[in-house]
Amino acid sequence: MAAARGSLTVLVLAAGKGTRLRSKTIKLLHPVAGRPMVGWVLEAAAALKPTRTVTVVGYQADAVREALADAGGRYVLQKEQRGTGHAVLQAARALGGDGGPLLILNGDLPTLRTKTLRRLVQAHRRSGAALTVLSAEIADATGYGRVIRDAKGQVERIVEHRDANSAQRAVREINTGVYVGDAKRLLAILRKLKPDNDQGEYYLTDAVHELLARGEKVGAVMHGDAEELLGVNTREELAQSARTLYARRAAELQERGVTLLDASRTWIDPHAKVGRDTIIYPDVYIEGESKIGEDCVIRSGSRISNSTVGKGSEIKDHCVLLDSRVGKAAAVGPFAHLRPGSDLGDETKVGNFVETKKATFGRGAKASHLSYIGDASVGPNCNIGAGTITCNYDGTNKFRTELAEGVFIGSDTQLVAPVKLGKGAYVGAGSTVTGDVPAGALAISRTKQRNIEGWVARANAKKTKKKPKKRS
Ligand code: UD1
Ligand code: CA
Repeated sequence: MAAARGSLTVLVLAAGKGTRLRSKTIKLLHPVAGRPMVGWVLEAAAALKPTRTVTVVGYQADAVREALADAGGRYVLQKEQRGTGHAVLQAARALGGDGGPLLILNGDLPTLRTKTLRRLVQAHRRSGAALTVLSAEIADATGYGRVIRDAKGQVERIVEHRDANSAQRAVREINTGVYVGDAKRLLAILRKLKPDNDQGEYYLTDAVHELLARGEKVGAVMHGDAEELLGVNTREELAQSARTLYARRAAELQERGVTLLDASRTWIDPHAKVGRDTIIYPDVYIEGESKIGEDCVIRSGSRISNSTVGKGSEIKDHCVLLDSRVGKAAAVGPFAHLRPGSDLGDETKVGNFVETKKATFGRGAKASHLSYIGDASVGPNCNIGAGTITCNYDGTNKFRTELAEGVFIGSDTQLVAPVKLGKGAYVGAGSTVTGDVPAGALAISRTKQRNIEGWVARANAKKTKKKPKKRS
């Protein structure tokens, strides 16, 4: 048989419920390192640049389609989940194709690597087989389909764990749920399958001996790294696959010159970027498409989600950054909360127990302690005193607070929005600012202090006159 030519089609099986997780949600939407497990499978396959990607959905189909909206490709509905062979058949008309290889993937392989798929496709193209199975040897094969070989080492069949006898169960070589086949020959065989197995399902894996029985060639390519091909069925495996993805990303970052004080206690999303010579303390989460620049320090207990941190900045202990940006040489925290839309410029400082939301800080602006700054623009070099609050919400609408350059806000101030403070304006401590303040002016709205001479002594004298109550 000549080597298979033609373009690559990818088929992802994502219709099964996945009962072993005991979840209300379909197994394949359970997040692993920040994205649904089936999303990782699609991503690994997408890097092969297939001409066509088809995903078979069924159980909670709408939710799966919605979660994968960005991945693109076509969807096919498997109304009843009658097995993996049945699932492939539902896609028959969507596959089209020019006789090129069909890569079939279980949806529960989140740690699968593109290079493994590429190698399998190449091996299949070279062999001209009707079907090539990716196998692996694992210590505990419980639950997996076993690859059964004859005396010469040729693949004979795949037997599912629940259908296997004790000799077959002793086999350590498993079917990983990754296959490359010739669509035409494979579909022809699948149409002939019978569901005569323990589950009464149409098994894609039965195609192996059926093809062989018709004189077709079937191969199995063994992959050395079984961990990569972990099929997630249980909560324990769910956790294990996440650990694998995080450990992989951590190793890549260390390789590129990032210091992780304890890589096993650092959770950096595989899509997040971290610059050289940045130091990350334990118990840090960097999520989504976050970008941390060079020479940063990220201290313990911080969570940085879909946010950017510029070169040389420090995120001190226990900060939360959500959909925000921090410029260069800035300092945040400890215990700061940057809510979505916070944009802190270069050399800014947001200190202890400061919460920001939809707030921009110009270069060098500071809010060092105990403040809430929301729906605000803070000009360069402003200084916001401890306990300042932007009163941005009247119960119905949100309003903005605007501070021009160099504004100084004394401690314990409320800025009742909408309000504008001009360049270099001052606000006396303890003020409630309800109107605009012109540039260069001082606003002060606290009541005048009065001292009552001798008050303490008179109060104490009254207390001692009172007879103490008897104790019971
Ligand atoms: C499957 C293989 C097994 C292999 C293991 C690897 C079969 C019969 N068995 O078993 O040999 O060792 O994967 O992890 O294929 N699905 C559908 N429609 C269905 C049934 C399943 O789309 O009707 C999808 C699931 O959503 C899942 C994939 O197919 O993504 C595999 O299904 P699963 O139930 O996890 O198969 P296993 O029993 O693990
Ligand atoms: Ca599985």
